[in-house]
Amino acid sequence: MKILTVIGARPQFIKAASFSHALKSNDMVEEVIVHTGQHYDQNMSKIFFDQLNIPHPTYRLDSGGKSHAAMTAYQLCEIEKILLLELPHFVILYGDTNSTLSGALSASKLNIPIVHIEAGLRSFNNNMPEEINRIVTDRLSKILFCPSQKAKNNLIKEGFENFDSEIYVVGDIMLDTIKLFTDNIKLVPPEKTPYIICTIHRQENTNKIERLKEIIEGINKIADSIKIIFPIHPRTLKIIDDFKIVLNNNIIVKDPMSYIEFINHIKHSEIVITDSGGIQKESFFMKKNCLVLREETEWEELVDLNYNRLCGFNKDKILKAFKERKNLRSNFNSLLYGEGNTSNQIIEILYNKFCD
Ligand code: UD1
Repeated sequence: MKILTVIGARPQFIKAASFSHALKSNDMVEEVIVHTGQHYDQNMSKIFFDQLNIPHPTYRLDSGGKSHAAMTAYQLCEIEKILLLELPHFVILYGDTNSTLSGALSASKLNIPIVHIEAGLRSFNNNMPEEINRIVTDRLSKILFCPSQKAKNNLIKEGFENFDSEIYVVGDIMLDTIKLFTDNIKLVPPEKTPYIICTIHRQENTNKIERLKEIIEGINKIADSIKIIFPIHPRTLKIIDDFKIVLNNNIIVKDPMSYIEFINHIKHSEIVITDSGGIQKESFFMKKNCLVLREETEWEELVDLNYNRLCGFNKDKILKAFKERKNLRSNFNSLLYGEGNTSNQIIEILYNKFCD
């Protein structure tokens, strides 16, 4: 059985790591990896391949730094050529990035079945490029692997049971990766004093300068009482520099971190503040509450169960959420996203389907 995996952005490397690892013990499956180059800096790409032992991509494209349309169009043409050469039994796609979308469009036009891992998520906000990417990818996919029952319910509400696709709830593959790479190592506190770990990268937050300033004002106020570690996405750094946005001296700006370094920072933090999707769940897996710098989330169950709080981009709301952090739930025993054996479940289902 030959599969072709398309990845290109940081969270996809993290998801692909455990899947590729699980495939290694299965010599009936050949995996061809296409890296679209959407993320290309050393700390946004190579560091993950090295640390998480992801096999070298067979194909490496150069789509980084382009507009949405230019990036998607370039990837679409290049992935089509590769698919015609490799003729895989199916294509594996993760999440909701532009690389996911172009993988879905190229494969579907060639009638190659698509397997979508992390299917069924919805923020119901079409202003997010990711929402468009995930809706289109789900609709074009043959097999949809959902991380939660809620994700499956979203698909059913959209009529997917009437489509020619199959839906499985298999838990969250990011939990596999956390267990695989951090269960058996000693994670030593990275800082001597209490701190918050914070990330901001989402285009809705960074590209509207007034919104970014408001968020930073909220974070600056929190930093009056506790140190904030801020590993920064290259785009956010550029905008902060270009617009000379002033950060509190108690905010420590760092380069983007490796996977294990970042998970370690979550584990020992007071609380996590982020606009990332994946980090909302990684916080939960590491038993930390998370303040979400957005007005809606595709991980609604974490908000409904009072683990995480949405605080949008209003500085007073961000500060209030921080002051009220002790009201958040501290019992993290729930198995909301499975037990960390998602990759093996997926491989078994695919194997039974394609190798009969
Ligand atoms: C992308 C995904 C987002 C995901 C995020 C994870 C889309 C639409 N968005 O957002 O869903 O949460 O990855 O990090 O696919 N840049 C660099 N170096 C890099 C990568 C990016 O300098 O290695 C800069 C470039 O100027 C680029 C900008 O950051 O134009 C934005 O990168 P892009 O890949 O378009 O989107 P992300 O915000 O990273």
